[in-house]
Parts: sequence; structure tokens; C-alpha cells
Amino acid sequence: MKVIAITGKGGTGKTAVAGMLIKHLAAGKKTLLAIDADPDSNLPDVLGVKVGKTIGDMREFMLQERDKMAPDTNKEALLESKVYEVLTEMPRYDLLVLGRPEGSGCYCFANNLLRGIMDRIL
Ligand SMILES: Nc1ncnc2c1ncn2[C@@H]1O[C@H](COP(=O)(O)OP(=O)(O)OP(=O)(O)O)[C@@H](O)[C@H]1O
Ligand SMILES: [Mg+2]
Repeated sequence: MKVIAITGKGGTGKTAVAGMLIKHLAAGKKTLLAIDADPDSNLPDVLGVKVGKTIGDMREFMLQERDKMAPDTNKEALLESKVYEVLTEMPRYDLLVLGRPEGSGCYCFANNLLRGIMDRIL
């Protein structure tokens, strides 16, 4: 299993390179998980993929629901069940989008969710 991360200054072609790399690798025999971890997401547009929910949406759901949850709610299991709602399955690869969390607060929780999801899925 290999992880390829693309980072760099704004507007230097990260998304363009990622899109071409995904298309190239998906044409081979490898199993591929593509992740758009840019809050200002546009990888789905480059790939021509329509994405429903994002990890940011998962964060909003957890924030909204946490006060209503019974104390013995298994949050890990709940999150795990949500992972498959935010995974867009394409014929040759899966796509996960971080998205932009609504409202105030930093991206830490969404980033931590992404880390946990990556550990689980990889
Ligand atoms: N090799 C290239 N030659 C010419 N234009 C390019 C090249 N790579 C990317 N571009 C164009 O440059 C612009 C920025 O590219 P892209 O969106 O991939 O950058 P980015 O690093 O993902 O930007 P951001 O930091 O905003 O996410 C786009 O209009 C893209 O089509
Ligand atoms: Mg980009």
C-alpha cells in the first residue's frame, strides 16, 4: 500500500496533477482511494464526479446530535456507519471529500475524523 500526498502553494496545479494521477492509476489494476483534503474542494469537479456528503457534513451531524445522544451511545460505531455515507464509490476508485465545515470553529475535528477514517479504510 502506498500513500501519495500532493501539497504546495495555491494555484500551482495540485488538483490538476491529482486528477490526472487518479485517472492514470485508476486505469491500472490498483485499488485506489482518492481524498480531497482541501476545504475549498474542487477535485470532484476535475474528475467529473458528483459528491453527496462530505466529512464536514459528518462533523456537523455529530455536533448537532451529540447533546441528544444517550450517554451510552457508541460514538465510534456511529461514526463508522457514517463513513460509508460520505464515501463516493466510482467503478475504479473511491473518493472521500473533507469539505468545508459550516459555522465557526477550526477544522481540527474534521481533520481528526479524516485521519481516523483513513486508518480504518487503509
Ligand atoms: N501544467 C499546467 N499548465 C497550464 N495550466 C495549468 C497546469 N496545471 C494547472 N493549470 C491550471 O492552473 C490553474 C490552477 O490549477 P489547480 O486548480 O490544479 O491548482 P491548485 O494548486 O489545486 O490550486 P488551489 O491551491 O487553489 O487548490 C487551473 O486553471 C489549471 O487548469
Ligand atoms: Mg486545488
